[in-house]
Parts: sequence; C-alpha cells; structure tokens
Amino acid sequence: MREYSLAAIPGDGIGPEVIAAGLQVLAASAAVDGGFRLAVERFDWNSENFLKRGHYIPEGGLERLRSFDAIFFGAVGSLEVADHVSLWGLRLPIAQGFDQYANVRPARLLPGIKSPLANGADIDWVIIRENSEGEYAGHGGRAHRGLPIEVGTETAVFTRAGVQRIHRFAFELARKRPRRQLTLVTKSNAQRFGMVMWDEIFFEVARDYPDVRTDRELVDAVTTRMVLKPKSLDVVVATNLHADILSDLAAALSGSLGIGATANLNPERQFPSMFEPIHGSAFDITGKGIANPIATFWTASMMLEHLGEAAAARRLMQAIEATTAAGVHTPDLGGNATTRDVTDAVCGALRS
Ligand code: NAI
Ligand code: MG
Repeated sequence: MREYSLAAIPGDGIGPEVIAAGLQVLAASAAVDGGFRLAVERFDWNSENFLKRGHYIPEGGLERLRSFDAIFFGAVGSLEVADHVSLWGLRLPIAQGFDQYANVRPARLLPGIKSPLANGADIDWVIIRENSEGEYAGHGGRAHRGLPIEVGTETAVFTRAGVQRIHRFAFELARKRPRRQLTLVTKSNAQRFGMVMWDEIFFEVARDYPDVRTDRELVDAVTTRMVLKPKSLDVVVATNLHADILSDLAAALSGSLGIGATANLNPERQFPSMFEPIHGSAFDITGKGIANPIATFWTASMMLEHLGEAAAARRLMQAIEATTAAGVHTPDLGGNATTRDVTDAVCGALRS
C-alpha cells in the first residue's frame, strides 16, 4: 500500500469547512482506489491562535512541515488581524520558504455550471503564476509615518533565475496540452525594466520549445481577451501580482470564486508542495455551511496527481463533474445545496 503524509492547515473562515469536506472526499478517493492511503495530520495554525500565541507558525514549524509529502491549505484571514499580517504570517512563509515558485491555476467551465459569459464554454485555461518573487517579494518600506512627507515603497524584484524557471515550467506544461499554446503577459510598455527582462527571457526560453506556439499580451489587454475571446487562450504565464488578479477573474468567468483551485508547486520536489482553493476566508458565509467545496476538491485532485496517483486524480475530477452536471450547486452558483450536500454527492459519485 502506498502511503502519503499530508499536512492539513484549515486556517480561518470557511477554510476549516472546505478542508473538512476535502479530507472526506480524499478519504473516499483512497478507499475506492484501494492502492494508497493518506496519513493526515492537522495543524491549528490560524488567526484565532495567532491572537492567543503571538505567532501563526511556531518555532520549528516549517521544519516539521517539511517532512510531509504535501500540504492541504484552507484560507487565512480574519477581521481581527490585518490582512498583510495574516498573509505574511502563514501562507507566504510556507510558499516562499518551500520555494513553491510555480503556482498553477486551471480554469474551465465545469458541466452544469453557468458562466457569466455567453461563450463561457470556451474557457479552458491554465494560468501560471510566478510565486516566489516579483511584486510580492516583500521589498519596500515606510518612513516618516504619519507626517506629510511620509513615504511608502513597494519594490518588485525580478531575477533572471526566477524568471527563467517560471517560463521553463510554463513551456513544459503548455507542451503537454493539446493546443500547445503559451501567452506571455506583462506590462512592458509602461514598466520598462523588470517587465522587459521578462519578455526577453521568455523568447530566449521559447527557442527550446519550437513545438509550443507563443504570443504576448499586455495585462490590461488580456483581461478583455479573457472576456471576449476566451477560446484564443490556452496557457498564460504572468507575474505574481498579475496572475493573482487574472486567476480571480478566470474563476469568476468559470462560475464562481468557489471553483478556482490552485497548486503551489516546488517542481524539483526538494520541499512539499501546497494545494489550496484560491478563495479566502469568505467572512460573509462563514459558519453557514454553504461554502462551495469544489475548489478544494479540484485542488485535492491536483494533489493526487502530484503525488503520483493519476488514476485517483482523474476519478475525483470525474466525480466532481458528475456532481456539477447533476445540478448539486451551492448558493454562489445559484443553487441551494449545502457544503455537505456537495460533499456527499461527490463521495457518492466516487463510489458508483
Ligand atoms: P474571499 O475569497 O474570502 O471572498 C470573496 C467573495 O467570494 C465573498 O463574497 C465570498 O463569500 C465568496 N466566496 C469565496 N469563496 C467561496 C466559496 N468557497 N463558496 C462560496 N462563496 C465563496 O475574498 P476577500 O473577501 O477578499 O477576503 C477575505 C479574507 O480572506 C481576507 O482576510 C483576505 O486577506 C483573505 N484571503 C486569503 C487568501 C488565502 O488564504 N489564500 C486568498 C484570498 C483572500
Ligand atoms: Mg488572490
């Protein structure tokens, strides 16, 4: 029996609700497959405990996490803690500390779900987000606080090594998809240093992938293309900030933020990778039992794939699609199903 160790970090808000549902679906996947099992350990690193303990990740916490095969993450963010404190206290130290530089964000209109777009069925994208540097490198500062001369800087950091490896990752992924098309997204007209370097390195790397069709688009223009000509895009590679924004748009265009899944990968597997829904704590629906768990199930499928359980990953994705097709939809999708209803339906589809 193959065994994988999984660190579950439910976090805040609806995080615990969707992670509980996700663990249930993963257990059902393993039971149906019969060839592997998951040893799950839960970590209570969240904002409530931060307020009590003064930290999200305890001393030695990252080293403990490091021994796991994968990390299954809910969300972090609370009304009681400033968002930049919670994000930099929990999620970013893991993603950056484990060099999870490739953030993969698929978007596709699942059967039975309505897109706000008339041509939503044409959405079949993977957005690759650079996840280790760029605008979220944490470089900047503030001086003269509160004075009229106060200054705040936020410096984006782009390195040749960082840009090269994300482009290479994107080309490798694009090469495996039927359309083999990769769109480079930057803002190299207005930002003439780091962004121009991004463009240059992209076309250098492209020489190694003559079988992948490439094009380029400015980030503002690509939003219009996502809405008006969804079929013209396949794989998109963009910076940390740009892809963060584009992937929320992609999730909304494919039905809801509650669908969008993501994998934070350390492709070299020197560290565990982290799998999470792209949404946050969703304060407005926390505790109501109506959070859409599909994003979490989708990322669970990506995790199974990453662990080497491709058949189980495929089976889970099929069970998700059977459930959406059958109209078992939470309120964000216009239905009245609960998190539990969707979870039971996916587990049922897995077993049938
Ligand atoms: P959000 O994703 O929490 O919510 C935005 C809207 O989408 C809300 O109306 C919410 O109800 C809805 N929504 C999100 N997920 C849903 C789901 N699974 N099912 C149904 N509806 C869903 O984003 P917001 O409001 O900007 O942030 C709330 C908190 O979450 C903040 O503290 C923020 O910093 C944090 N956050 C954390 C993230 C993470 O841990 N990776 C990512 C995004 C936000
Ligand atoms: Mg985001």
